[in-house]
Amino acid sequence: MSAATALPVTITGVRRAFPVPASRGGRADRASRSVRRGTTGGTVPAERIVLDQVDLTVEPGEIVAVIGPSGCGKSTLLRLLGGLDTPSAGTLRIGDQIVTGTDTRTAIGFQEPRLLPWRTVAQNVALGLPRGTPRSERATRVAELLELVGLTASADLRPRQISGGMAQRVSLARALARRPGVLLLDEPFGALDALTRLRMQEELLRVHAARPTTVLLVTHDVEEALYLADRVVALRTVSDGEHSPVSDVAPSVVRVLDVPGARPRDRADARLAELRVELLEGLGVVTHHVSGASEPYPAI
Ligand SMILES: Nc1ncnc2c1ncn2[C@@H]1O[C@H](COP(=O)(O)OP(=O)(O)OP(=O)(O)O)[C@@H](O)[C@H]1O
Ligand SMILES: [Mg+2]
Repeated sequence: MSAATALPVTITGVRRAFPVPASRGGRADRASRSVRRGTTGGTVPAERIVLDQVDLTVEPGEIVAVIGPSGCGKSTLLRLLGGLDTPSAGTLRIGDQIVTGTDTRTAIGFQEPRLLPWRTVAQNVALGLPRGTPRSERATRVAELLELVGLTASADLRPRQISGGMAQRVSLARALARRPGVLLLDEPFGALDALTRLRMQEELLRVHAARPTTVLLVTHDVEEALYLADRVVALRTVSDGEHSPVSDVAPSVVRVLDVPGARPRDRADARLAELRVELLEGLGVVTHHVSGASEPYPAI
């Protein structure tokens, strides 16, 4: 099977605001605006800014992890990249094309595997193949993908007959089936136990090494981000759930961190442990770490 052509991702000045329902008050503030029109006296609906001034370039084949507090817009960013949502301002590009809708060059892996229960493992993977793949090629491609994620022996099982980790691997194989230039993964291992999660991280690195593709990985796990990614992007919450600002509306991205060391990384690497503490403290977690080495950065 030929290697995927990893594509660059360019995000420029992206903003995503959602209207605030009038029944919820729509109170105006710096993050949710209700603008009074001078001459007519009318108002435009209040809006809640979820993402603002997002600028990010991801190189072909790079793995970028996106972290940040719950509700800060991580999934929204992936949905925008996957063409499942539209930005209020700014542009997102895959390769040199602006994202205007779903794109066969992009694959999304959701937090839950979303398998069809009445189909076998192999049939679920086949669902990811591009439309028009010749019948003769389909079986070979599915067999290769199952081998890639270590599920050859489980090809004929149904989703209820496999474990959660296996289901996640089926989901990953299905996402890879279209040979995506960009793979968008939203908390792909979030539902797994700690050990399976570590194994799946290795699996992802193995698959990435075998078939390089650009990966944007949303995760709540800072350690996972530092273990897998070339860079970690930290987002902040621009406005909270009550439509009031927690800060001035400022760029959503508060930190872009280059992760040192080539993969596979030593999980006990002292530099990664320091960075983990630094990122966790940026997320507001008390780490009880005593160090004079790391510079504080603006709270997320
Ligand atoms: N279609 C929508 N309409 C209105 N608000 C939305 C919509 N989609 C998302 N939001 C709001 O945008 C905010 C960010 O949502 P998003 O799902 O991107 O967060 P997240 O960072 O992925 O959070 P989590 O870590 O909990 O998954 C949330 O407060 C959510 O309520
Ligand atoms: Mg989310």
